[in-house]
This record gives sequence, C-alpha cells and structure tokens, in this order.
Amino acid sequence: MCGVFGYIGHRSNAALLVFEGLKRLEYRGYDSWGVVVVGRGKIYVKKKTGKIGGATVDELPPGSLAIGHTRWATHGGVTEKNAHPHLDCTHTIAVIHNGIVENYESIQAELVHAGHRFVSETDTEIIAHLLEFYAHNMSFIEAFVKTFQRLEGLNAIVAIHHKERVLVAAKKGSPLVIGFGKKENFIASDPSALLPHTKEVYFLEDGQMAVLRDASVSVMESASQKVVKFSTQILDWDVSQTHKGEFHHFMLKEIYEQPQVVLGIAGSGGEEVKRIVSLIRKTKDLYFVGCGSASYACLAGAYLFSKIAQRRAHAIAGSEFLYHLDFINTKSVVVALSQSGETIDTLESVSYAKRKGAKIVALVNVLGSSLYRVADAKILIGAGPEKAVASTKAFIGKIAHLILLAYALDKRVKEGQELLRKSAEVIREVLAEKNSDRIKKLAHRICGVNHIFILGRGLSYSASLECAMKIKEISYIHAEGLAAGELKHGTLALVEKGTPCIVLLPNDETYAATLAGAMEIKARGGYIIGISPKKEGVFDEYLPIADVGDASMIPMVVTGQLLAYYLALERGLDPDMPRNLAKSVTVR
Ligand code: AGP
Repeated sequence: MCGVFGYIGHRSNAALLVFEGLKRLEYRGYDSWGVVVVGRGKIYVKKKTGKIGGATVDELPPGSLAIGHTRWATHGGVTEKNAHPHLDCTHTIAVIHNGIVENYESIQAELVHAGHRFVSETDTEIIAHLLEFYAHNMSFIEAFVKTFQRLEGLNAIVAIHHKERVLVAAKKGSPLVIGFGKKENFIASDPSALLPHTKEVYFLEDGQMAVLRDASVSVMESASQKVVKFSTQILDWDVSQTHKGEFHHFMLKEIYEQPQVVLGIAGSGGEEVKRIVSLIRKTKDLYFVGCGSASYACLAGAYLFSKIAQRRAHAIAGSEFLYHLDFINTKSVVVALSQSGETIDTLESVSYAKRKGAKIVALVNVLGSSLYRVADAKILIGAGPEKAVASTKAFIGKIAHLILLAYALDKRVKEGQELLRKSAEVIREVLAEKNSDRIKKLAHRICGVNHIFILGRGLSYSASLECAMKIKEISYIHAEGLAAGELKHGTLALVEKGTPCIVLLPNDETYAATLAGAMEIKARGGYIIGISPKKEGVFDEYLPIADVGDASMIPMVVTGQLLAYYLALERGLDPDMPRNLAKSVTVR
C-alpha cells in the first residue's frame, strides 16, 4: 500500500527523478514521503509527513543513485521519524519497504543487544540495521540476501549503499516492477510511474531479487542466488494517460473516460474470451472473488451469469473466500476480479484455490501484475491506468466484461457487444453537462447529511453497494447500500424526516417492488432520490437514465460516481486521495 521508486543511471538529478516518481505513486499511500540520494559519497535524506503537495527536493545535492517512498502507515504513527527511507546507524545504508515484517520485534531485540540504535517505531527500520550488521563481514549484495531471508511476512524492499554503486531489491507479496532505460534503470511499485522514462519493464516475481546497475539488471532467486533468465514486456499504456489533463482530479478524468473504456470492451470478445467461456462451460462450480468494489462486481457477475446465461456462480469477497475453500476442487473455476492485480486478500484466495486444483481466470487491469501472472487465463480490463483511489472506469470495465462473458456463454456475443455500444452512449448522456449539473446541484443540497441509503434489487443491488462505496470512501458520509427487499427488516428504523434515500429503479422485473419500498420510505419522511428511466411522483429528486436492459447498472453506477465526486467537493475533500485509504490494499 506504499509507493516505492528508485533510480540508478547517468543522470545526476536522481533525487528529482525519484521525487517526480513518488508524485505518480502517491495514490498508493500518502501519510508521509521521503527521498534519499547518494551524493559526493554520502547519503542525503529528506522526509516529510503529509502529502507531497507543493514540496520540493531542491536542497538535496546532485547524485545519480536515489530511492524514495510514499507511506501508508502500518507500524508506527504518521511522523517524520517513521517516514521512509530508513537508515542504519552509520547513515551509509538506506531502505524503503512495502509490506509488514512479521518478526521485526525479535530481530530488533537482537540488534539492540548488538548496540544498534533505533529512531523510529516502524518495522522497516530493522531492515537497515540488519543490512549494516551483515555488511560488516560481506558485500552489500550478500548482506541483502541474508537480510531478506530473515524477514517473515509479505514484503518488497529496495536498498542502496553509499559506497557500492548498486540498487538492490527483492519481493515477496508486494509488487515491484523494473524499468529499463539507456544507461539507467528504474524500480517502482507499479508500472504507471515508469512511463515518462520507459515502457520496457519486468515484473519481479515473488522470491526473486534484482541488482540494478547503471547499465545492467540481474535477477536471481533470493534464496539460492541462482541467476534467473527473464524477458521484459512493453507496456501498452501511454504516459499521457497518467496525467490529469484538463481535469481537476484523476477521479473525474477517469469517470469521463468510461464511454471509451466500454466501447473498447464492446469491440473485444476475441480468442481469450472464447477460451474463458469454454473453461466456464465445463464447470458447475464457478466462483467470483474480489475485494471492495471488485467484490460488488463479483456480485453483479453472479446475477448477470444467472439472468443472461442461466449459469450459477458464487460471489465471495476476497477476505471471506478462504472460509469457503472446502468446496473448491479440481473441477472449480475461480474468476478473480481486481484493478491492481495486487490486492492481498484476492491473491491469497487465488493461491489457495490454485493449490486445491481450481482453474483461475483473472479479470485485471494491470499487465504483469501478480494476479495477471498467476492466472491460467486472463482478460485485461483495458481501462488504462486508474490513479484515483476510488475505482470508477476499472469497475465499469469489469461490469462490461462480465456482461460480454455472460452473453458469450449464451452464444449471443454480438448482442452483448451491441448492448455495450449502447451503454457507452448512455454513459455519455449521464456525463452530459445538463445531467452532471443536475447531480452537482443535488450534491450541494444534501452534502450536509450524515447518512444516505441506496436501495437496489436484483442486478441493481450490486449497483447500490457500489454507489454507497463511492459516496462513503470519498465524501466520508455514512452511505449504506442495501437490497430493497431488506428495507423492512431493519434499515427502515433509521429513516428520519429528510433522510436521503436513493432508489435504483431500472425498467425490469424489480420495478414495482422497489417502487413500493420508496413509498414506504416516503411515508416516514424520507427524501427520495430516484435514478430511473421513468419519473415517479414519489421522487423528491429525479436523476434520469436511459433503459439499457441488462446493462442498466452501468448508468446507475456512473450517476453514483458523479454524485460521490461532487459531494466530496462540496465537503472540501480531495476525491483522489481520501483519508486512511490507499489505491491498492497489498497488506492484510
Ligand atoms: C474502490 O473504490 C476501492 N478503492 C476499493 O474497494 C477497491 O475496489 C479494492 O481495494 C479492490 O482493489 P482491486 O480492484 O485493485 O483489487
């Protein structure tokens, strides 16, 4: 959940290169940040709490070897001392880290006993001192190997030494990707940060370590030191996709990219889809697994597969999947949904299921990510880099792929592609100025509330959960998505005069029952916000959407995304980097 960036090469502004890289990774964690550069044979460090904002690293000296880190705090509060990079006692070794060292306390006790002095409350700092301890009697690389072998837990670490001109990295669990330049090399937590410098990358595998020099990169197994032959990949993203452009926030840019994303998916359905369809056809034991918004896409997948292709599928959140594993066997197929491809609970579920012989299908947005690499079959969501913590285009991309897969399962691919083309048009209507102004005004009217309820039924139930997720994670208003039929089983007790209740009313078999629920809320003073192709008298506010049949959740969710975005702005919040959260949850 942290951002890691490193540079070694011919350019002497390494501190700035790393600092710019951190800005592109800040969405992964923004409690604090820090940069270390080797200049004139010494290590210089700058660390600050809070977001990078308008800070600079101008005071750091020239140097051509540097590493940096943006932190999402796990061990130790948000202080400058706890910010990474962490140094050893002699300030000749610097380390940055993403993950959790589960056995750090016993190692720390050993090092304190050996005379090492600690300045932070973090688990990470023990890595710097352990390197120092071993480096007394061996080369820095050998010391790194011994250090990494001692660490328990899922970790990615990057370290540099003030005298030895190398940048050493290793990973087990958290992501690390190497970028290849001309007489320079890079390392980062995710590929989008490398795009201004290179598109040629290698995703380090678990249990591997890499030694980066100015003009070479070697990869080996961390345990045996055996050299690993690897081939690089060329990213199909463009650096322009990683900038906000004329938008104020990444989230708004990514919301407005959704018509193109859905159109791109409408044009897909090639060999890989056919292969996945045949995999799914062979099983009666189909699971969808994902976390957060991806788990709501899983739920939508289960409804879509049932309704469109009469196929049964179990949708389970990644953090709960491990408790369902007794059913998993060699006949099972697990479809894992993830934007980042690095969400730890999804990855753990997948590796468990794989060990029980299940086939793994990945629907993932990042080429070369851990999930992408571990899957037996995969589809790239194709949404392009998604930087805002709140997932929008990647979520809608998942839904579009699931719709297409369901239609393909039912041998109606063309119908599915046509529906997606229509959906792209409908998204444009939601995003049109007249409609977005309507949503903006509604946000202004309700931004002071403490609770918002969103009711959906059938396919709209997963839409209600996703709309609630958007609202709560960026506006901090308590938003609860619920199955409309559950209203009278408890939630109705929370409705007071003026409580905003968003009612998702697609033109399908759920319409009448959900409309009845809206009436019951209204009778108790609730403020009804209808999202529907049809305006009803019970609505206090009406947000129109076109009728796109099985794809109706798409315009509903896009409406919810815009409402969440404008609520966040009304409340003076940063929609891209909400408090306490990070883009990719890579630690348990
Ligand atoms: C979505 O807006 C949230 N940021 C979060 O729930 C996210 O969907 C979840 O962490 C899963 O991420 P993934 O798709 O990268 O696996």
